[in-house]
Amino acid sequence: MPTKVEKDHLTGTDTTGHEWDGLRELNTPLPKWWLYVFYATIAFSAVWMIVYPSLPIWGVRGTSGWVAREALAPQLEAQRARQEPMLARIRALTPAQVAADPELRAFALAGGRIAFANNCAACHGAGGQGAVGGFPSLADDEWIWGGSFDAIQHTIRHGIRNAEDDDARTSQMPAYAAMLTPAQIGDVAEYVLSLSNRGTDAAAAGRGRETFNEQCAACHAPNGHGVPEQGGPNLADQIWLYGGDKASVMRQVANPRMGVMPAWAGRLDPATITMLAVFVHALGGGEQ
Ligand code: HEC
Ligand code: HEC
Repeated sequence: MPTKVEKDHLTGTDTTGHEWDGLRELNTPLPKWWLYVFYATIAFSAVWMIVYPSLPIWGVRGTSGWVAREALAPQLEAQRARQEPMLARIRALTPAQVAADPELRAFALAGGRIAFANNCAACHGAGGQGAVGGFPSLADDEWIWGGSFDAIQHTIRHGIRNAEDDDARTSQMPAYAAMLTPAQIGDVAEYVLSLSNRGTDAAAAGRGRETFNEQCAACHAPNGHGVPEQGGPNLADQIWLYGGDKASVMRQVANPRMGVMPAWAGRLDPATITMLAVFVHALGGGEQ
């Protein structure tokens, strides 16, 4: 309830006339200098909105006509023009030829690193180390589809098991849940583990060996070292797309997950793809 405006006898300040349960509100105005600065900033922001395009509506310009995007454009253009001679040279060469020229190689590694961070790191990790769940490391010397310059370039251009590109790498591991009994799947998994000396049941591995030679060797090679043309990874090492314990191997054999990678040919400039191939090849395990 508003009461009478009066002086508070303890502080000597006016009250606002508001009172709650006997507590009265003092009227302490803001310092004048503060208030004027505050008004000045409001006035400034109004002027700024008129002069510069600060309304978030496409096409609205300030009276100055200045737009950050347009101011940046010539700089980007100049940057591109500076890079163009190098990019044109790279476009005309294969990744192996680029890597053989020290100047182009340095340029390709720098450009490839940035393109990798922008386009590939989400799936393959910032350093190409891969990620659990089917995203292979590109920094080791195990290659599912081949680690030569040309093989890497082909994989990047066309992708893997995607419907958008007819030249995509493709290979389909059958779902053995429909063909083998759970006991046979257990045995063949035991044999797969024995290839990297981690088997625990020699008798089961012995039974699984026959199934492996009949069913799996065509894509994974009789010794399990993999067949790049079939996209069948090496099963005799410690590198796993989907996990190397018995349960994971059995799950993959029963119902394989097939990794998918987009094709980049239509999305990235050919020079960028070549630079990426040089960069990926240099991550660690590039083959001749
Ligand atoms: C959406 C996720 C995704 C993105 C983005 C992606 N990849 Fe992949 N990439 C994969 C998967 C999944 C595989 C493995 C497919 C398989 O199981 O065969 C793969 C495989 C590869 C391989 C083959 C590896 C081998 O061992 O043969 C290369 C090379 C590769 N990617 C390079 C790249 C590059 C370079 C980029 C960026 C331009 C990129 N990837 C972007 C998911 C991705
Ligand atoms: C038609 C070819 C083909 C046949 C036959 C085949 N595989 Fe595969 N296998 C593949 C491909 C391709 C992959 C990789 C899947 C991917 O890249 O996502 C794979 C992946 C695997 C993996 C996962 C490897 C990892 O790194 O995680 C295991 C385990 C495996 N196969 C075991 C077998 C066994 C056991 C058999 C026989 C019972 C078999 N495969 C038969 C093509 C085949």
